[in-house]
Formats: sequence, C-alpha cells, structure tokens
Amino acid sequence: MCSTKDVERVKALGADAVIDRKKSNLLDAESAYDVIFDTPAVHSFGRCAKGLRPGGTYVTTLPDAALVTGMVRALFTSKRCRFVQVASKRADLELVGGWLRDGLAVPIDSRYKVADLGAAIQRQADRRRVGRVVVEVAEGWPS
Ligand SMILES: NC(=O)c1ccc[n+]([C@@H]2O[C@H](COP(=O)([O-])OP(=O)(O)OC[C@H]3O[C@@H](n4cnc5c(N)ncnc54)[C@H](OP(=O)(O)O)[C@@H]3O)[C@@H](O)[C@H]2O)c1
Repeated sequence: MCSTKDVERVKALGADAVIDRKKSNLLDAESAYDVIFDTPAVHSFGRCAKGLRPGGTYVTTLPDAALVTGMVRALFTSKRCRFVQVASKRADLELVGGWLRDGLAVPIDSRYKVADLGAAIQRQADRRRVGRVVVEVAEGWPS
C-alpha cells in the first residue's frame, strides 16, 4: 500500500498487488489479510484487527503504548499483535549496497557530512522531508 505518486514505482519493484491509499482504505476490508505490516507505524492493532483473517497478525515497527494495548487486546482474540526491529547485520547491508550499485533507485531528500549529524537528525524528523536523509561518513570527522 502506498500513495498515488508511488504506485508505479512499487509495481516496478515487483509487488503482486498495489493499493493506492489515497483512493481506497485498507482498513475498510474485513477478514482480508493474513498479515498487515504497518511499516510507517501509523495504524494500530485495534484499527487493523477487523481486516485480519482469524489467526492473522498485525506487525508494527514502533514500540509505543499502542503496541502494548494491542498485545493485551490480542490475548482475547485469535489474532496476534507483534513488533519487529531491524538489526543491521553486515551481510544484509552488503545485500542492500549491491542492490543500490545495481541501480535500485532510492529518493534522496538531502545529504549531510557526518560532522553535521545534528542537522541530519533534525531533517529526518521534519515532516516536509521527501526521501532519505544521507549522512556521508567516507571522509570521517574533520580533525
Ligand atoms: N523497528 C525498527 O527497527 C525501525 C527502524 C527504522 C524505522 N522505524 C520506524 O518506522 C517508521 C517509518 O520510518 P521511515 O524512516 O521509513 O519513515 P519515512 O521515511 O517518513 O517513511 C514513511 C513512509 O510511510 C508512508 N506513510 C505515511 N503515512 C502513511 C499512512 N497513513 N499509511 C501508509 N503509509 C504511510 C509514507 O508515504 P507517503 O510519502 O506516501 O506519505 C512514507 O513512504 C517510523 O515510525 C520509524 O520510527 C523502525
């Protein structure tokens, strides 16, 4: 699921089905999905449970109060509420690096030197940001 501007790009990445979230609401569906992976962590188990099939799982990326509430609510249903966290392993990073070298296009919002990490973090939190914030570490910290 993505917004209109990204539909073609997501199809090109190989998705079997793409839902434009500006045109239809995933949360309107009933018992439609085995897994809802809430990558931007903007929903909750409570809002997604209806859309899950019996035994289905809601997965978020943010360990917040809604996750705890969702896990407790899930205890009383056949559905599950889970959290996933990325652990940056060398092999995984090399795999992604290979995809980038091979031409995987990632929108870049801005670039910062590692010495300007504070500004990079501020930009990352800025809602006007479009794409990734890159921190260049190749030259390290200025001496
Ligand atoms: N657990 C972990 O290991 C881990 C690691 C990194 C990040 N995170 C968390 O993951 C979340 C996303 O991080 P990010 O850096 O990828 O954020 P991001 O760069 O801001 O990307 C958010 C994406 O979610 C989409 N989006 C925004 N609102 C949406 C909605 N209502 N429904 C569906 N999609 C929506 C945006 O699409 P549009 O451009 O169309 O709005 C955008 O593509 C954050 O909460 C972050 O804290 C977790």
